[in-house]
Amino acid sequence: MDHFLYRDGTLHAEDVSLRDIAATVGTPFYAYSSATLTRHYNLFHEALSPLPHLVCFAIKSLSNIAVLKTLGDLGAGMDVVSGGEYLRARAAGVPGDRIVFSGVGKTREEMRLALTGGIRQFNVESEPEMRALSEVATSLGVIAPITIRVNPDVDARTHEKIATGKKDNKFGIPIDRASSVYAEAALLPGLKVVGIDVHIGSQLTELEPFEQAYLKVADLTERLRAEGHTITRLDLGGGLGIPYTRSNEAPPLPSDYGALIKRTVGHLGCEIEIEPGRLISGNAGVLVSRVIYVKEGQGRDFLILDAAMNDLVRPSMYGAHHDIDPVIEPAAATLPHTYDVVGPVCETGDTFAKARPLAPLSEGDLVVFRSAGAYGAVMASEYNTRPLIPEVLVKGDQFAVIRARPTFDEILNRDTLPEWL
Ligand code: LLP
Repeated sequence: MDHFLYRDGTLHAEDVSLRDIAATVGTPFYAYSSATLTRHYNLFHEALSPLPHLVCFAIKSLSNIAVLKTLGDLGAGMDVVSGGEYLRARAAGVPGDRIVFSGVGKTREEMRLALTGGIRQFNVESEPEMRALSEVATSLGVIAPITIRVNPDVDARTHEKIATGKKDNKFGIPIDRASSVYAEAALLPGLKVVGIDVHIGSQLTELEPFEQAYLKVADLTERLRAEGHTITRLDLGGGLGIPYTRSNEAPPLPSDYGALIKRTVGHLGCEIEIEPGRLISGNAGVLVSRVIYVKEGQGRDFLILDAAMNDLVRPSMYGAHHDIDPVIEPAAATLPHTYDVVGPVCETGDTFAKARPLAPLSEGDLVVFRSAGAYGAVMASEYNTRPLIPEVLVKGDQFAVIRARPTFDEILNRDTLPEWL
């Protein structure tokens, strides 16, 4: 459930009309709902209670500092995968002991940044990374708490570009090598093993793959404990999917997911960490765009929008579907018209949807892409020198620009000419 509903014929974000925001901010822009972010965080928090737990929001899905502060103020932890994301979490006021550091290629500089700034744990993904972290922590005279990310060789049954838990993926260490890697970790100075980490993929629409992975983690916990390791935390990753269409999708709910966690690992007495991104942020955001032209093509009509693949890359990158709705609610009896919905970028790949039935639209009309909060703004670029689009946060009847559209001067001034040119 989200808080983007029609009221008096106009689509609202909570109590604010998207048409009013468009009039103030200009299009295209992203709009986020505080109430939806809060609701989704609370669903996970409740689903894991009464187990000791920390819901660490995967910042990579939506990293605006105002969004992070909204969640951080509720008590959320953060999952970061770069020094930049670490600094965003800190800038949002999240203390280091609520931040976990994931990622397959952490640099020594990033390790130093987190170790001096404060960190709950590093989720280590390889032996060379573990040795590097040991060196950095020792040189700073501190102890780095670690989990080791295991690759359970489970098929997440999701898009191949976002599946991470099969043995041929680059992530984690093979679970059957865990004993020897944990044995080395225990001997390395500057490290303290606190638990196990696993993450098998994103946009999972079934619980079964999670179940397989978590049962393997439960076995491994007992094995590692028998080998003398102290396992007090299990980081179970993110990945729970969301519905991208109104019609036929019903992915499992956070409450089902919480029950599964309790069933598979609840008896181990561990503190549970999860790293959801998309389920918290995805349906908490829309991309609002304006129709520039309606163009008659060969046997099809093109709806040419002012948003493009550089603003929302998921359709061209993964063939992803986003529902598109007009901001002005069509009359109930309106017959749909079929459009290819495209942006102005000079690539055929800049296509959001083909043969999509929509209420008839004209130049100047506003549309929204739904479910665009996750992996929308964060994956945007300035391709074609199109400025990054603004982000707006709504709370009740208030809204604020939380990232402004850069001016062309700001963009051009980032380039510098060499003296010799
Ligand atoms: N933890 C780790 C270690 C991850 O790699 C990810 C996502 C998450 C947590 C959060 O997963 P979520 O709950 O959001 O599914 N750009 C792609 C998705 C990439 C996901 C990468 N890792 C997309 O637009 O679908």
